[in-house]
Amino acid sequence: MPTKIEKDTISGRETTGHEWDGIRELNTPLPKWWVYVFYATIVWAIGMFLLYPSIPFVHSYFHGLLGYSSRADAMAGVSEMNALHAKQMEQIGKLSFAEIQKNHDLMEVALTAGRITFADNCQPCHGPNGEGRIGFPALDTDVWRWGGTLEAIQQTITHGIRANDPETRNSQMPSFGADGILKPEQIQQVADYVMTLYGKAKPGVDVSAGAKIFAENCAMCHGDKGQGNRDVGAPPLASRVHLYGDSRETVVAQVTRPRHGVMPNWNKRLSPATIKAVTLYVHSLGGGE
Ligand code: HEC
Ligand code: HEC
Repeated sequence: MPTKIEKDTISGRETTGHEWDGIRELNTPLPKWWVYVFYATIVWAIGMFLLYPSIPFVHSYFHGLLGYSSRADAMAGVSEMNALHAKQMEQIGKLSFAEIQKNHDLMEVALTAGRITFADNCQPCHGPNGEGRIGFPALDTDVWRWGGTLEAIQQTITHGIRANDPETRNSQMPSFGADGILKPEQIQQVADYVMTLYGKAKPGVDVSAGAKIFAENCAMCHGDKGQGNRDVGAPPLASRVHLYGDSRETVVAQVTRPRHGVMPNWNKRLSPATIKAVTLYVHSLGGGE
């Protein structure tokens, strides 16, 4: 049926000419402002399409007139951070421990770098938090074999202990049993005495013979009261912290054939600045002097 455009008598507006069951549709155009905003969004979209990366091709894409790339942006951020990190590590390498400790920002960088270095290199032997394990000393206690000052720790990490380095820390507990310096019976006696030093002796055992053997053979390294001696890395025996354990068998085994634990030198694998950072980290674990 042909439609007729006519005026609506009530509103005075034109109708569209459509009519359904006597209901006619008024012609109400979109507001002008709405139409212009709509056109503006189309222009905006075309503009963005041209300025920024948009159309994908098979092996590449249209890079946009501005050449913007969020990846390049991110990479620039990363290299900026790397440059800052390198600069801070360089400073850590140059400054003294005291100067680093006074600089809050540098100290934070050092401890973070130290923690990461520790997790990558030291944790397999010394445990995730430096708590140690049998044969590998705990680094979070105040019991030190070679020393717990920053300088002592730095020296240990740099040159190692019994390591393949001309300046390594070195000392050898003699093989009292294997080399026949002490008889098996004497080793049992001295073991009984050593256990009194940390309060694990069997009650009622006479340790006078053991004490004499200790004074003659062991005190020069471990100290007359078993307090240890850092010049030769002899662990304090009068301590609840042990490198190998506190049982009688462990003491007998050590006196018979000492283990001569090896700590690698890190000067070949870590830069001096990184060694300083991990030194500060180890020192911060709780036992630093
Ligand atoms: C292959 C195992 C091993 C690795 C890896 C290792 N250490 Fe050690 N470390 C040892 C042993 C064993 C000793 C004890 C040697 C001894 O005195 O008998 C030791 C001793 C030390 C000491 C001296 C503790 C004291 O009481 O004076 C420090 C400090 C130390 N290690 C730090 C580190 C740091 C930091 C790293 C990582 C950069 C590291 N170690 C990696 C085995 C290891
Ligand atoms: C030349 C110095 C020296 C002499 C002498 C010496 N020691 Fe040691 N002792 C060490 C060193 C160094 C260590 C740790 C190094 C290692 O073997 O890994 C050690 C470790 C030990 C340990 C293990 C400590 C622990 O924490 O688990 C015991 C126990 C011990 N010695 C007992 C003795 C007794 C007993 C004698 C005497 C019969 C003796 N030592 C004589 C240097 C010495």
